[in-house]
Amino acid sequence: MLTFKSPLVGESSAIQEIFSTIQKIAQSDSTVLITGESGTGKELVARAIHENSARAAGPWVVVNCSAIPSELLEAELFGYVKGAFTGATQNRIGRFELANGGSLFLDEIGDVPLHLQVKLLRVLQTKQFEAVGSNKTVTSDVRIIAATNVNLEMAVKNRTFREDLFYRLNVIPVRVPALRERKTDIPMLIEHFIARFNRLTGHTVSMPTGDVLDACMSYDWPGNIRELENLIERMVILKNGGAIELSEIPQQIFSSFAAAKGSDSAAPVAEWEYPRMMLPIDGLDLKNVVSAFENHLVDQALARTHGNKNKASELLKMNRTTLVEKLRKRGMITPAKHKIANGNMIGSDMNNIGE
Ligand SMILES: Nc1ncnc2c1ncn2[C@@H]1O[C@H](COP(=O)(O)OP(=O)(O)OP(=O)(O)O)[C@@H](O)[C@H]1O
Ligand SMILES: [Mg+2]
Repeated sequence: MLTFKSPLVGESSAIQEIFSTIQKIAQSDSTVLITGESGTGKELVARAIHENSARAAGPWVVVNCSAIPSELLEAELFGYVKGAFTGATQNRIGRFELANGGSLFLDEIGDVPLHLQVKLLRVLQTKQFEAVGSNKTVTSDVRIIAATNVNLEMAVKNRTFREDLFYRLNVIPVRVPALRERKTDIPMLIEHFIARFNRLTGHTVSMPTGDVLDACMSYDWPGNIRELENLIERMVILKNGGAIELSEIPQQIFSSFAAAKGSDSAAPVAEWEYPRMMLPIDGLDLKNVVSAFENHLVDQALARTHGNKNKASELLKMNRTTLVEKLRKRGMITPAKHKIANGNMIGSDMNNIGE
């Protein structure tokens, strides 16, 4: 692996390529446009570019353009003078000026409103701008790193993003691949996050192996590294130690594993997917609550199978006779004919009852 300052973990060829791009572009002052799905690590890449550049000792300033209401964004970026608008009780410098000598990270650049895009284009070209309400031109020596998870080319076609600004930003494009395109990074990332959350919690959860690791490798991670990071955080908090078990991973990850293996076995339900009910102050009748929970799942199984008790009992991993007995106890079938008493709940396919 290349040695340079970076918090980015990974060993896939895709991430290695990103490392070498970062090294190459860090030394220049050109504008960088980082694209990639949400949670792929765009901000981390931007930071690594700054930290490996000649500007590393200068300020690192971040602006999330989608988090700031559009009417405030101009003042945030360029500053304002006293009296420029209601509430402007004193002069305030903006992020462009704050970042002088360093780098300015414009996150979610696709959300900058059209009227501000003109001003942004000018500052990218000349490094000059005026604070809101001021005539004085300010110059700031800033390297711009922008990021977006929307398709800016499409936004240009739809006329919501200026073409000239797009080309001015896209001098050096860096595409951060989705995690599903670099699955070989998954084990290293899991190890990294387990170590981090063990350190934070004092727990001793160990690296998953076998089926659990296979399940993580077969899942597509639509939320990318952020989704993986959040999952590991939750696992480490819920477990004090030991290896993560197959029954503890979320349903959607297990399902992709079962599908990849060609198995149709039902997924174990992870512990945190059971309903969480607070014990009332005065306590409760456990037997009643448990049987209400059971009836709820039995009714769902019958509804889903249109009242077919064979299929419903399979869904519930239960003997058919046990299911029949439970229904009989609830008065839902008569002992003699095995007919259902409550047609509404089971659905219209009454012929299946008794099968
Ligand atoms: N290669 C990596 N190694 C370690 N951690 C990573 C890596 N890539 C991303 N992360 C972590 O994943 C999380 C998401 O990363 P980041 O915020 O940079 O993504 P993003 O692409 O900016 O997402 P969004 O589009 O939602 O803003 C962060 O907590 C970050 O620290
Ligand atoms: Mg981000």
